[in-house]
Amino acid sequence: MNYLRNCWYAAIWSDDLQPGHITARTLLDEPLVFYRDAQGAPVAMEDMCPHRLAPLRLGKLLPNGHLQCGYHGLEFEASGQCVKNPHGQGRIPAKCRVKTYTLVEKHTMVWIWMGTATPDESLIPEFSYLDAASGHDVGRRDTLAMDANYRGIVDNLMDLSHAAYLHDGLLGNEDTAWAEIEVRQDGPYVYVQRDMHNVRPPKLRDLLFKRDGAPVNMWQTIRWSAPGAVLNDVGTYAVGSDRSNFSGQLGCHILTPETATTTHYFTAAARQGPIGAAPEEGDEAFKAQIAEMRRYAFKEQDDPMLKAQQDNIQRHPHVRPVLLDIDVGPVRCQRILDGLLAEEAAAAGTETH
Ligand code: FES
Ligand SMILES: [Fe+2]
Repeated sequence: MNYLRNCWYAAIWSDDLQPGHITARTLLDEPLVFYRDAQGAPVAMEDMCPHRLAPLRLGKLLPNGHLQCGYHGLEFEASGQCVKNPHGQGRIPAKCRVKTYTLVEKHTMVWIWMGTATPDESLIPEFSYLDAASGHDVGRRDTLAMDANYRGIVDNLMDLSHAAYLHDGLLGNEDTAWAEIEVRQDGPYVYVQRDMHNVRPPKLRDLLFKRDGAPVNMWQTIRWSAPGAVLNDVGTYAVGSDRSNFSGQLGCHILTPETATTTHYFTAAARQGPIGAAPEEGDEAFKAQIAEMRRYAFKEQDDPMLKAQQDNIQRHPHVRPVLLDIDVGPVRCQRILDGLLAEEAAAAGTETH
């Protein structure tokens, strides 16, 4: 599988990378280990010892911050350099080092750069609502293991009309199938906005709004940047009222390919808007309920559909999908991604010639 490499991928939530623990995770088909060094800085290394190729995830973190291979005890520092060979004369061959990747912690998440170009921190997508400084009360930070390729999930997210059927009752219903759709682009971001008027509120929206089941107006403004960083801004307001008087959520859906057919899906939501927030602010049980509804929708409803769809696509590689009006957003994103992949392939070609 061809992956975009000169870009930032979400690797792990900062909170999930606790000092003293080694986390093994495959990104872009590459098995990696993540840990924190003695200063607490995150480290990412290839999960393979240069000696006999044993996986480093079976090793140990030493109090000095070195990672010790679990097989014959070679020790590596955060740069990947072997710094101790406990055998023989202790000679360390020049090639005895592990490949490492640049990491940056931002928006409560560890981002990884797996390309050959110089990492550019300014390219990390904007998810500042996740920061403590934003004042948002962010719910559970989930990492969902999806059995689908990330590009299929991009199609799923950039056309939220599917909520009317696949998440019927929970995130959408028949009333929400039709919407005014606007697709626009701003710098690296593609936005798809759906406006729905006078619709029965789906369960999650009603819970976050007035809990009276009365018809509402709703919007979804979903933002994508390559390769798979998605921010969804949703709001609900009363029919006949001003849209500034709303209740909604900001939710991230950040996709990192694990393999060609599986994806790490990072998601967390925060409430927004002046309505409905006060009684539940900081209410952990309510926040957990909302997080669980979201997890259920993405993992138990989207994922089986995406997996089964992917199986069909693999079985019929030459069949082109029939496209509808609702596909304008997803098609725009995939074209941009294809362009970036082609650019990167061309640049890699010039490097090698
Ligand atoms: S395989 Fe790692 S020290 Fe031998
Ligand atoms: Fe969905």
